[in-house]
Amino acid sequence: MKTLVIGTGGREHALALALSRDPQVTEVHAAPGNPGIADVATLHDVDPLDGDAVAALATSIGADLVVVGPEAPLVAGVADAVRDAGIACFGPSRAAAQLEGSKAFAKQVMAAAEVPTAMAHVCETAEEVAAALDAFGPPYVVKDDALAAGKGVVVTEDRQEALDHAAGCDRVVIEEFLDGPEVSLFAITDGETVLPLQPAQDFKRALDGDAGPDTGGMGAYTPLTWAPDDLVADVTRRVLVPTVQEMARRGTPFQGLLYAGLALTSRGVRVVEFNARFGDPETQAILALLRTPLASLLHGAATGTLDAVGLPAWHDGTAVTVVMSSAGYPASSRSGDVILGVGAANTIEGVDVIHAGTGLDADGRLVTSGGRVLAVTAVGEDLEHARDRAYAGVDAISFDGAQFRADIALAAQRGEIEV
Ligand code: GLY
Repeated sequence: MKTLVIGTGGREHALALALSRDPQVTEVHAAPGNPGIADVATLHDVDPLDGDAVAALATSIGADLVVVGPEAPLVAGVADAVRDAGIACFGPSRAAAQLEGSKAFAKQVMAAAEVPTAMAHVCETAEEVAAALDAFGPPYVVKDDALAAGKGVVVTEDRQEALDHAAGCDRVVIEEFLDGPEVSLFAITDGETVLPLQPAQDFKRALDGDAGPDTGGMGAYTPLTWAPDDLVADVTRRVLVPTVQEMARRGTPFQGLLYAGLALTSRGVRVVEFNARFGDPETQAILALLRTPLASLLHGAATGTLDAVGLPAWHDGTAVTVVMSSAGYPASSRSGDVILGVGAANTIEGVDVIHAGTGLDADGRLVTSGGRVLAVTAVGEDLEHARDRAYAGVDAISFDGAQFRADIALAAQRGEIEV
């Protein structure tokens, strides 16, 4: 099978790496890719937001399967253009990607499907925003209704900060705050069959102890030894299946990766958000433990044959991902810092260094080229083993201004997480 992965980030590197290790995959292509993806795929210089260009590339290389990684091309309709060209494509249509593209739309779907989620108000004026903030009280949760490249959500005790964030958006969703640990649960679906993956936990704040500003994600691990035994079955029954059925009922079937961001609150499971693509950096950890060949799952979803694939199988053990970010992240990012030690880190048993914001300078040296630069991913027998390996990988890598959290999966390792 010839595959084409669209995107440039860590998620796309992890997808391309897993496809390259799948015996049924004969070729992996990527566009535009990054220097890490170039190690496992042939890169093509195509605008990932240009559906016609992506479809033309897929046709020219004879792709059997296109995998659209990030949300922006999905919301722009790139998957529709590929399917219109007669090529199997993993990723929802423009209409179905509104589950991520509009927070207000996602709330409508959840209400119709009776999916448990936070109470929310959709607000368009400053008066509506102030009233909604005061109705819920702190901590305030303000979500830009539109895609905002990971910068759309603010959770704060500071009412003025909440008002300021809302003032910078056309339309916002103001929600009640959900307590309890957060879980990312992904499902692969062809619009009918729903196959949940292993749950993971993501670390959104920049600094140890969940302090500092929100980021795109500073680390992840899977599985969650502390989660209730029936979590996956419960969320599949109450969240994932009803949502997929509701999308089909509306005439916009959702095919691809349905990402449920959950809070395990004192009142039960609640959906914090839906995304329409694999999460980053959870995907790096999850795919490290996936035993079922990835292409069979993605192709099954893209061709409506997922029922023949069956539930995914997993390797024993644990996977931990630690993100290394560039100077200034998340407020800004610095490009051009030379990165050393990736080769050495990759030789550590169980470690894969996944590239995100990396590039090559004029001398061909690997340099920073974005906020989240690398996701050092390690598998091990348990959390302690996987953490030791991941941080050994981090220690082997250096670049000016490098930042990372030292406590990824530490609370879970110490048994400190309570539901
Ligand atoms: N890990 C958060 C996200 O992918 O949106």
